[in-house]
Formats: sequence, structure tokens, C-alpha cells
Amino acid sequence: MTVRLGDTAPDFTANTTQGEIHFHDWLGDSWGVLFSHPKDFTPVCTTELGYIAKIKPEFDKRDVKVIGLSVDPVDSHQRWEEDIAETQGTAVNFPMIGDPDRSIADLYDMVHPNASDTMTVRSVFVIGPDKKVKLMITYPASTGRNFDEILRVIDSLQLTAKYKVATPANWKPGGDVIIAGSVSDEDAKKQYPGGWKAPKPYLRVVPQPK
Ligand code: BEZ
Repeated sequence: MTVRLGDTAPDFTANTTQGEIHFHDWLGDSWGVLFSHPKDFTPVCTTELGYIAKIKPEFDKRDVKVIGLSVDPVDSHQRWEEDIAETQGTAVNFPMIGDPDRSIADLYDMVHPNASDTMTVRSVFVIGPDKKVKLMITYPASTGRNFDEILRVIDSLQLTAKYKVATPANWKPGGDVIIAGSVSDEDAKKQYPGGWKAPKPYLRVVPQPK
């Protein structure tokens, strides 16, 4: 199945290291990050899971639930988590889906046969409280993901959801933002009585709303 931005994230029931979940119920009204890792007991994945566990408070702060998946079974994840705690210094503190029949990986098109027909690629899906897919990124197995970048995109998405602004290239939280094209100048004046910088009429720049 192909999943695209704006689609409803496919729902599923899964066994995880924290028990059975029904994905949409588990998400509730929160944002979510669903990510796949190619295989248990592999080095890059080990560092990724340890890093996510370390920065989980950052996801919590943004009301984002994190869940991982690989095509290995849950009992394998549980054994591997002991290694992750030992080598990365943080115990895995989010659920990991066991997907040995690849049913969920197939639902999200996480196996790319020309890369590998036995492992998933490193997929990331950010899902909004409306259950729509807001971000998709695909990395190769050999490159560990930049989870700080994923947090940055979540900050941008949450800002857009709240204030009808977009964020420019290399934006970081606190930096200037762009008034969305869907907002008329008349409405923008009400929202930004101090005005905005507009080097072009379509490029209206304001400080990040608080
Ligand atoms: C890793 O996590 O280190 C890895 C997994 C699959 C293929 C290559 C690297």
C-alpha cells in the first residue's frame, strides 16, 4: 500500500513490547511518530533507539507518542532492549512493534525490495491528532536518523496548525516565520498589528508567534 502526505494513517492492531495496541486508539488525541528500523541487534538501530529513549521527554513535551517497528518478533525486541540499555545508557521507554509477518510494514510500504527484501528501510511517519500523515522521511539502512531534525519538523508542524504560518529554510524554534499564503493581508493586519517585512508581496515575514 502507498501512504502519502495528507492520507489517514492506516490503522492496525499489533503486539508490542508494552502489550497489544490498536494504533488509532493508542494515539488518542496526541501526535505520533511511527518509525521502522531494519533489524534487531544491529549497530545503527541500537544507537537510534538509545537516542530516542534519551530525548523522549522532548516528544512528551510536544504531546507526541513514539512507537518503533521492525519485522522481528516482540521477544527479540525485549532481549535486544537489554543491550540497548547497557550500551546506550538509557532503557527503551516507548513501545516497539513486533511485525514478523510484515503486515504493518506492508501497510506503510516500509519494505523496499530493491534496497532489501528482508528488512524495512528506515521510515519515519509523523501523524497529527487528526490521524493524517504530516511527514514521511525514508532513510537507507546505513544512515542513522537525525531525531533532532524530526523534533524540529514537529515544532514547525505544530506552529502551522496553531498559527497559519510556514517556516523558512533551516528554521529553528524562535526564528522568524512566514505568514501562510492562505491568510489575506487584511486578516494578517489583525493578527500582526505591528506589520511584517515583505521583500515581495508573497513573502511576508514575522517573528515567531508565542
Ligand atoms: C544497522 O542498524 O546498523 C543496520 C541495519 C541493517 C543494515 C545495515 C545496518
